[in-house]
Amino acid sequence: MGNKKIHIITFGCQMNVHDTERMKMIMKHEGYDWSESPDEADLILLNTCSVREGPENKVHSQLGRLKPLKESNKELLFGVTGCVAQQKGEELIKQISYLDLVVGTDAISSLPDVVKKVKESGKAVVQTEFQEREEYQFVEIDTDYNFSKFSDFVTIMKGCNKRCSYCIVPYVRGREISRPVDAILKEIEMMAERGVKEITLLGQTVNSYKYNGVDFASLLHKINEINGIERVRFTSPHPKYFTESVMDAISELDKVMEHIHYPLQSGSNDVLKHMRRQYNSELYLSQIEYMKNKMPQLEITTDIIVGYPTETATDFEETLKVMKIVEFDNSFSFLYSPRPMTPIYDMEDPIPEDEKKERLYKLKELQEEISKSRTSKLIGSIQEVLIEEENDGRDKNQFSGRSRGNRKVFIDDITGYKLGDIVNVKIISGSVHALKGEIVSPK
Ligand code: SAH
Ligand code: SF4
Ligand code: F3S
Repeated sequence: MGNKKIHIITFGCQMNVHDTERMKMIMKHEGYDWSESPDEADLILLNTCSVREGPENKVHSQLGRLKPLKESNKELLFGVTGCVAQQKGEELIKQISYLDLVVGTDAISSLPDVVKKVKESGKAVVQTEFQEREEYQFVEIDTDYNFSKFSDFVTIMKGCNKRCSYCIVPYVRGREISRPVDAILKEIEMMAERGVKEITLLGQTVNSYKYNGVDFASLLHKINEINGIERVRFTSPHPKYFTESVMDAISELDKVMEHIHYPLQSGSNDVLKHMRRQYNSELYLSQIEYMKNKMPQLEITTDIIVGYPTETATDFEETLKVMKIVEFDNSFSFLYSPRPMTPIYDMEDPIPEDEKKERLYKLKELQEEISKSRTSKLIGSIQEVLIEEENDGRDKNQFSGRSRGNRKVFIDDITGYKLGDIVNVKIISGSVHALKGEIVSPK
């Protein structure tokens, strides 16, 4: 045992980033150490995303790029994990002759078995079975897990029970299952013992969490009690489950940060209905108003899909209208991408490509304007920052961390403080992507 090396290339969302860390832990138990570069690895995994066509295509281009390594080292194993693995299974093996293993989203615990089988048989192995609810086991982390220093992820549920018309996630991540409360709390306590100060709770509709009568709001209350954890974030909440008790918990619990990533997708009720999002813009806006009244400092980011097949010019204007009312601090906007397995995959799409691109451009322009104005309001303010990293600067090193509102903040001088400290920073300049400031006092 020992001396073997694994390298994983990760695409997609935070769930995948966290799955990669858990796969590293699982393979460490088998004697595989982490390799920073694919060149020295004995096992290379691509942990993939299929939410849009772009990320899906990266699988082929990346594997193509890595192929020469395989030619020079016959012992090297190539695998695909994550959402494209789940989506395509066997098909990947047929398409890519030099692929050794395909492991789906529910099967990461079986990675060691799969690797063994490949070695014994000399043949490619595919493991993409979804686990039944009764049998589903969340991967519990242990001391072999590489704890991020100050900020880390905690899975509270897996899968998604929604069926948004455009979205492949339910088909590649399976049914929603909430993780037992005790396991979540135990894991967070362990993280706190390791020096983790901030956690981000993960779930596709994170606020639909429910386990033996404990809902998302009560889970937040329990986590707020854990000593050592100073900051709690979560992603992504869904408007249908954004109850008053959830909103009250966010505003009342001191450790829950004043930032929500709150996917809107569209501001048009016709489009939202066609998307099967289960809310309308009035509900979304009333929730935002409720929260802003309680937390004027709340920062809000969102996801928006542009050029949905039924989106008319008027629908698109509705989206811009909602953006102007909410004043998102930032938004991630995507052109609609038809996904296999989804209900509208084959739907006729009458919007010309140019028109879609123009809408996306217009939306990004509006967002930039709003972001600038939101950022300018922060200049001169005092923001509480967790100092997380030391970055190599050109002349001298710089430090960075995040504000409660999730803005990246750069600090030149942390004399008297250290990484992991939470400090009050006076903001002196900034753009949407990063603020700059000086420490004025400890938290
Ligand atoms: N669970 C989250 C979304 C996860 S997918 C939610 O319900 O809000 C992340 C983002 O990808 C989505 O918010 C959506 O904006 C985008 N997305 C998903 N499917 C897409 C598609 N087919 N085309 C373009 N964007 C898509
Ligand atoms: Fe996809 Fe909708 Fe589930 Fe989000 S809630 S993951 S958009 S199906
Ligand atoms: Fe992509 Fe899978 Fe996440 S499709 S967005 S990696 S859940």
